[in-house]
Amino acid sequence: MSFINKNINESYNFKFLIYFMFKQIFTVAILITVLMISCNNSTNQTDQNTINSKQEKWWKEAVVYQIYPRSFMDSNGDGVGDLKGLTGKLDYVKSLGIDIIWLNPIYSSPNADNGYDISNYDDIMKEFGTMDDFNVMLAEMHKRGLKLVMDLVVNHCSDEHEWFKQARSSRTNPYRNYFHWWPAEKGKPPFRPGSFEVDGSGWRFDSLTNSYYLHYFSYKQPDLNWENPKVRSEIFAMMNRWFKKGVDGFRMDVIPFIAKDTTFPVITQKELDKKYEGRWDVYMASGPGLHQYLREMNEQVLSKYDVMTLAEGAGTTKSTAMLLVDPERKELDMSYHFDGVSLGYVPGYFKKMNPNWNLVDFKKIYSDWDSVFAEKGWGTIYLGNHDQPRMVSRWGNDAPEYREASSKMLTTFLLSMRGTPFYYYGDELGMTNIKFDKIEDYRDIETLAEYAKIKNAGGDLKQFIEDQKTGGARDNGRTPMQWNAEANAGFTTGIPWLKVNENKSEINVEAEEKNDNSPLKYFKKMTGLRKDHKDVLVYGKYTLLDKDNPDVYAYTREANGKKVLVLLSFRKNGGSFQLDKMQLGEEWINNMQPLQVKENIISLKPYQACIVELKN
Ligand code: NOJ
Ligand code: CA
Repeated sequence: MSFINKNINESYNFKFLIYFMFKQIFTVAILITVLMISCNNSTNQTDQNTINSKQEKWWKEAVVYQIYPRSFMDSNGDGVGDLKGLTGKLDYVKSLGIDIIWLNPIYSSPNADNGYDISNYDDIMKEFGTMDDFNVMLAEMHKRGLKLVMDLVVNHCSDEHEWFKQARSSRTNPYRNYFHWWPAEKGKPPFRPGSFEVDGSGWRFDSLTNSYYLHYFSYKQPDLNWENPKVRSEIFAMMNRWFKKGVDGFRMDVIPFIAKDTTFPVITQKELDKKYEGRWDVYMASGPGLHQYLREMNEQVLSKYDVMTLAEGAGTTKSTAMLLVDPERKELDMSYHFDGVSLGYVPGYFKKMNPNWNLVDFKKIYSDWDSVFAEKGWGTIYLGNHDQPRMVSRWGNDAPEYREASSKMLTTFLLSMRGTPFYYYGDELGMTNIKFDKIEDYRDIETLAEYAKIKNAGGDLKQFIEDQKTGGARDNGRTPMQWNAEANAGFTTGIPWLKVNENKSEINVEAEEKNDNSPLKYFKKMTGLRKDHKDVLVYGKYTLLDKDNPDVYAYTREANGKKVLVLLSFRKNGGSFQLDKMQLGEEWINNMQPLQVKENIISLKPYQACIVELKN
């Protein structure tokens, strides 16, 4: 029995064992299946998140405020803005509701082109302060939740940079290849343009080694030879050093120009017309190694940090811009185009503005560029910067009766378009062009060179000075920040490096802080609105309406079932807009309440701007 029992027991135990094993296997199998399914789900989830996080980025949602450090705030009375001065104004900057500060170059520089000629990438320009001042400034920015984007100027450096001093000393110097040389025994080099040079040439003869060197800008800005891998690794190492210090990104000066065809072939006008839209900048942006170098930069530097990059898209076109910013290509994040700010120039003159520039063309430019980045990549939007006149003088109307309204209207445009807005210091106040009457007041290398060119050619200098008042003179946009109505607008206790605009008595921070209807208060409202409605105003779809309307820029932005209509009068005669079947809802903002609607037609006052929800 016991045996039987034993057997029975044994067989029972055996069966139980088998049953138990199967059960376990079954349970494990179920568990594995469940796990696999949930894993699969979470992979989908992750994919989804990755897709979303690919689309949503802090630098897409940010408003960038550009500061020209030379002109923002002087702390020591030498007439030049500096880092300590800027640090002292960070509470003001934060109060604007902006997220990122882009600072024009602050590195050591002899200042031939106000810092765009760097003599030491690892030090601070003496006039601006010290590295300690920089560290304090960065820490104070970060404390306030502000990010810092620096200017990266690496197409060229200064002729006073140690690399160039070495390179020019002999043909066999180890740094010789850091730059582009053309030995004079080969004759004159094939033409390349050089901005800021009176003779217009991008080559300069250097007698010391009987050679020419290449400089796309002034002769004080020799072009670096990116075809030399050593140059690339020097630059990447320098960028890594700045990122390790904690900077949050780079705006990259004329980055599309870095690569060169070093055989320097002769480019005929015919070839330029055929292949490069007749434009030298397009040729210069077409160097064969460009995308390889940017990918290397991304791999060796950018991919290691959560930072943003912006290409100054010189010479890029609607068909080439995506190559820089397509996320899959792993190069840069954003790019800015010149089509908008180049509109309205009279051909054959230097940045002479046609006062009757065409709004229909303006709308087409911004709409076409919106569609470039509609599916992928990301654009930017700007109307002014240190290379442009003041936005209100150029695109609005700086006459006293229209200045405030048109400045608010332009702010509405910039902050309601898709693409990251780059907003230039002082534009929040509606600062205007200074309109110098004499060449002696100008400091800018570009204006001085253009003046000399016209003088040498026996041209009309008076006309040139007139044209610069409304057109392109860069100093118009570089005058000191207007803090208050006191001497020098509170910018300096000394003599400012560039004259302060007389209109500081009405246009200044102190006065505008006290006035609820000021352009400054309006700007703050707009930054708030963009944040509160980021789904619509940052990411939402853009659709141009009534494209042939000569006075009004009208468009919708929409997302998640929400849709708004943006109406902007760009004219002193106001303008009108036909609503058709649209039904108006809540007004989000309006620079001149109320909105006049009669029989389905909205009549806008001069430079009126509004954003209003649509019910259908
Ligand atoms: C573009 C910069 O914005 C401009 O100010 C500068 O003069 C040139 N690049 C040369 O660096
Ligand atoms: Ca100073």
